[in-house]
Amino acid sequence: MSTPNLKIEDLHVAIDDKEIIKGLSFEINGGEIHAVMGPNGTGKSTLSAALMGHPKYEVTGGKAFFNGEDLLEMDVDERAKAGLFLAMQYPSEVSGITNADFLRSAINAKREEGDEISLMKFIRELDKKMEVLEMDSSFAHRYLNEGFSGGEKKRNEILQLMMLEPKIAILDEIDSGLDIDALKIVAKGVNEMRSPDFGCLIITHYQRLLNYIKPDKVHVMMQGRIVKSGGPELAERLEAEGYDWIKEELGIEDETVGQEA
Ligand SMILES: Nc1ncnc2c1ncn2[C@@H]1O[C@H](COP(=O)(O)OP(=O)(O)O)[C@@H](O)[C@H]1O
Ligand SMILES: [Mg+2]
Repeated sequence: MSTPNLKIEDLHVAIDDKEIIKGLSFEINGGEIHAVMGPNGTGKSTLSAALMGHPKYEVTGGKAFFNGEDLLEMDVDERAKAGLFLAMQYPSEVSGITNADFLRSAINAKREEGDEISLMKFIRELDKKMEVLEMDSSFAHRYLNEGFSGGEKKRNEILQLMMLEPKIAILDEIDSGLDIDALKIVAKGVNEMRSPDFGCLIITHYQRLLNYIKPDKVHVMMQGRIVKSGGPELAERLEAEGYDWIKEELGIEDETVGQEA
């Protein structure tokens, strides 16, 4: 099996004809964890949704390859089946389908017909992973995210990550709304996934999570582009000094920043 790879070249994305992503490039391989940091309204969630193939986000230029294949030609299901995963900033609540049923169908959707996961194996895996995430077993039988607190939803996204074992995962603000204990648990889940067969893009505007998940690279995103890349020290400087020094360094004018969507 070859190393997972996600490569984006000069990507442009528009929402309702308004350009949000304005020429963004980066590449991530299996075995790597990258962080994308940036102020609110800079297009981080737009980037995630566009990579996952959300129909509202129109790719108006550039290229994207997933394991060498043209990502932009694939529909949402094909992207998921190929091993791309998105933990959403605002996970949806789905009434009428339990967490366990959802996970089992999602796993089976990625497998060939006739090769479905056995119920026993599924339950064993689920138990094991819920234990790592310190989730009460009742969460398996509750409707997907329904009535979950913000922190429980985030933990549930990591449960999906661990059960689905994607090749490349994008975690959009997985740390928002978490108290310090929950943050450590979420980090533990992600760290357990670390392997040469797994790459992870962590999107956040706080450095806090990166104390527990050491990124190989940190990218700063502003106004729809990656404007600076570096190592973990870059995240520390952002935490201490904010984003103004980057704006000054790069001569970026302040613009009215949109509200976080
Ligand atoms: N569904 C949407 N419809 C209209 N505008 C949107 C939508 N989603 C995001 N935007 C706008 O796109 C810009 C980038 O938003 P977003 O990608 O959510 O930023 P971030 O995740 O970096 O905070 C913002 O100005 C936001 O208002
Ligand atoms: Mg966002």
